[in-house]
Amino acid sequence: MNTYSPLPVSFTHGQAAELFTSDGRSFLDGLSGIAVTNLGHAHPRVTAAITEQTSKLLHCSNLYRIDLQERVGEELTRRAGMERVFFSNSGAEANEAAIKLARLHAHQRGISRPQIIVLEGAFHGRTLAALSATGNSKIQAGFGPLVEGFLRAPRNDLKALHEFAQRHSDIAALMLEPVQGESGIHPLDLDYLSAAAALCKEKGWLLIFDEVQSGNGRTGSYFYYQQTSITPDIVSTAKALGNGVPIGACLARGEAAQTFAPGHHGSTYGGNPLACAAAGAVLESLAAEQLQERAQPLGQLIESSFRQALNHQDAVSQYRRAGLMIGIELKHDCGALVAQALEAGLLINVTAGRTIRLLPPLVMTDDQGRQLGETLASVVDHWLTSEAGIA
Ligand SMILES: Cc1ncc(COP(=O)(O)O)c(C=O)c1O
Repeated sequence: MNTYSPLPVSFTHGQAAELFTSDGRSFLDGLSGIAVTNLGHAHPRVTAAITEQTSKLLHCSNLYRIDLQERVGEELTRRAGMERVFFSNSGAEANEAAIKLARLHAHQRGISRPQIIVLEGAFHGRTLAALSATGNSKIQAGFGPLVEGFLRAPRNDLKALHEFAQRHSDIAALMLEPVQGESGIHPLDLDYLSAAAALCKEKGWLLIFDEVQSGNGRTGSYFYYQQTSITPDIVSTAKALGNGVPIGACLARGEAAQTFAPGHHGSTYGGNPLACAAAGAVLESLAAEQLQERAQPLGQLIESSFRQALNHQDAVSQYRRAGLMIGIELKHDCGALVAQALEAGLLINVTAGRTIRLLPPLVMTDDQGRQLGETLASVVDHWLTSEAGIA
């Protein structure tokens, strides 16, 4: 269906941080399929694991034990500091699981119409409950009635959370992305996150972190919250968990981990052997190659290369970054840059109108990082000087 507006290029294969077309052109990948191929394209360990798995067993229903799923589940919960995991196929579904879990937890405590506080600028996915939790009226338009049971607060606004606490006795959870991705890479204030976590504890609300985009090594630790003093009750992830093979996960600890019982939730494909072979290889590679250590220095290198090459222009209103989640907010809407960067051999994204979003793979070399920053700066420079009335 007519749901995308694809750019006029099609790739036949990729290698680490590069993508190639059939006519021999190569492109530097500054986007990783929107934070999916964190280990780069054709990563040998992932390729070997899924190749081997395809010749043994692609799928097996969750009606039976799946050893590989159990092993990957144990490793993932250990890395996350969680206790249990439910496997899904996507980020939206991981969030659906988190929302259902929070509602059930509340029902079990006598709250018959539980509400979940969500934030302005949030993006949680396109399925109906995830869309309802999302804080973007543009992508919600036309799909009403939305799912009820969400209260919306501005981001970084602790007072708004306290006001909800005073006015509502039926709050089940606070759900947020610790680094908002789609709205333009906004890491939430650490003071806000700590105070919000303390309020959740005091009120008995579950704290749900959506780390679909920020997870799996992208910001310098397995999950972003591991760089803070906060551990949520529930965390959702997907995207880079399978480096391109669809798999998502909803992890929980404490009471939240004990909430679901057989029959409460399920998925035909969720956590099947093929997906778990990919996720197992991703977890192994991150540990063996220490790839998440690349996120901070490489992110810094890309940003500083860009800054230096563009320092003669007054075009940027703010740089925001968490590891390899890089947001460069310009003073003007700049959607046109995506096609111009492509012409220059770069894959980038523009989100929220005027924020260039870069999500390069952890395997990008320093030389490629410099090239990404400098080439992007020259694309922006050219755009500024050619766009009538802007420069
Ligand atoms: C933070 C966040 N949550 C949820 C989603 C939805 O994930 P999916 O597209 O796999 O359903 C995304 C996708 O961009 C995301 O960035």
